[in-house]
Amino acid sequence: MLKLVSLCKRRGFIYPGSEIYGGLKGTWDYGPLGNELKFNLKQEWWKTMVKEQENVVGVSAAILMSPKVWEASGHTQSFSDPLIECKICHQRFKADQEELIKEHEKLHLKKKEKVEWTEPKKFNLLVEAKLGVVEGEKNITYLRGEITQGVHVNFKNVLNSSRLKIPFGIAQIGKAFRNEITPGNFTYRSIEFEQMELQYYIKPDEKESMKQYELFKNMRMDWYKNLGIKKDKLRFREHAKDELAHYAKAAWDIEYNTPFGWKECEGIHHRGDWDLSRHQKYSGQDMSYFDEETKEKFIPWAIETSGGVDRATLFFLIEAYSEEKDPAGDGASRVVLKLHPKLAPYKVAVFPLLKNKPELVKKARGIYQNLKKNFEVDWDERGNIGKRYFAQDEIGTPFCITVDFETMENDTVTVRERDTMKQERIKISEIKEFLEKKINE
Ligand code: GAP
Repeated sequence: MLKLVSLCKRRGFIYPGSEIYGGLKGTWDYGPLGNELKFNLKQEWWKTMVKEQENVVGVSAAILMSPKVWEASGHTQSFSDPLIECKICHQRFKADQEELIKEHEKLHLKKKEKVEWTEPKKFNLLVEAKLGVVEGEKNITYLRGEITQGVHVNFKNVLNSSRLKIPFGIAQIGKAFRNEITPGNFTYRSIEFEQMELQYYIKPDEKESMKQYELFKNMRMDWYKNLGIKKDKLRFREHAKDELAHYAKAAWDIEYNTPFGWKECEGIHHRGDWDLSRHQKYSGQDMSYFDEETKEKFIPWAIETSGGVDRATLFFLIEAYSEEKDPAGDGASRVVLKLHPKLAPYKVAVFPLLKNKPELVKKARGIYQNLKKNFEVDWDERGNIGKRYFAQDEIGTPFCITVDFETMENDTVTVRERDTMKQERIKISEIKEFLEKKINE
C-alpha cells in the first residue's frame, strides 16, 4: 500500500487534500491521471448501468437538500453509530470495531498505558451545512449522506416527464459526505467521496423482486471482473440481520481482498418501499404509481446498487499494481500498472526515437495530433526509449508507439504492448483500428 500511495502522489493520481496546509483528514484530491482514471471508471459504469439498459435514465440532483429529506429517509435518526472514545488520546471507534479497538489498546500498552473507554455515545454521521448570510438566522441542513435521496424525491418528476413504465431505473453519480469516525486506509474511508448508484423501481412482489435482486447482484459482480479484477479477489457477503441498514430488507456486499483485508466495494440493497413511502408521509405528496394495464395503484419497491467511485478506483489501482523484472532489458525491475485499457488514463503514448532529429519529431507529432482526436494520448521525447517505456508502464499506458528511421521509409511504426512488452510493426494508417480493437477486446 505504501508503494502505491507513493506512486499515486509522485505520478499525479491522488494527493492528500489541502496538503500545503497540513492536510484535512479523510479528504483527497485527484491529480491529472487520477482524474482521468476516475472519469473512465464512471463512464464504464454509466455505459453498463444506463446506456446499455433499455429502461434506465440518469439524473443529477442537488447535493444540498431540504433537511426534511433526511428526517424522512431516517438518516437524522439512524445514521448515527454508537461510538466509544479512548480516554487517553480521545480517538473514537465504532463500538463494534473489535479488531481496531484491540489494536488501539495494544498501541497504548506498548507505551505502558492502559486504555479506559467512555460509554458508547451516538454521533451523527451527517455533515451539517449552514445556509443563509445573517449570523444567528442561518438554517441548518446537511451535505447529502448518500446520493440516493436525490433520486427518490424525484421519482414522480421523472415518471411524469418521461414515458417510463415500471420496471424502470434512475441512475446517478455524485458526491456524498459522512463524518466518518475512523477515515483511513488511503481513500478507502473518506469524509467526502463519490457514489454511483442505480435505484430500480419494481412492482411490490416478493418473488419477482428477489429475481431482480439476483440479476443486479450478478451484473455488478461481472462489471468488476470484466474490468480486470481477478475472480478470486472478489466475493459476496450477506449482511447479518443486526447489520442491515435501517432501510434494507436484504443487503449483500461485493468485497475485494485488499492488503488490509476483505473490504466492501459496493452494496446491493433491497430497499422495499422504505424511501417512497417515507417521502409520501413526510412531504404529504402522493408517491404512488398507477399501472395502466392492471389498474393497480401501489408504492413501488426499489432495488439499489450502490458503489463507491473512490473505492473502486482504489481497488482497481491495487489490483493493477505490480513489480516485475524486465527480461528484455538489463534485468532491471519495472513497476507496471496493469489497468484495463478502458480505465487507463492514457491509452497510448507516442515517441520520436530521437528528439534531435526534426524529421522524426515532425512525423511523430503528426501521429500524436491525429490520435488525440479519438484517444487520450501522451507525448514523450525525453531520455532513452527504455526509460520512456518504463515511465509509461508505471502510469498504466497500455501501448507505446515509436517513430524511427524505418517510419520515414515505409510509413510503419513500432507498437509496444505494456503487459507483454512485445513489439510489432504496423502501418500508420492502421493504428486507430488497432487501438480500438485492443481497447475493446
Ligand atoms: N445508498 C446506500 C448507501 O449509501 P453504503 O453501503 O452506505 O450504502 C455505498 O454506501 C457505497 O459507498 C459503499 O459500498 C462504498 O463503496 C461507498 N462508501 C460509503 N462510505 C464511504 C466512505 N466513507 N468513503 C468512501 N466510500 C464510501
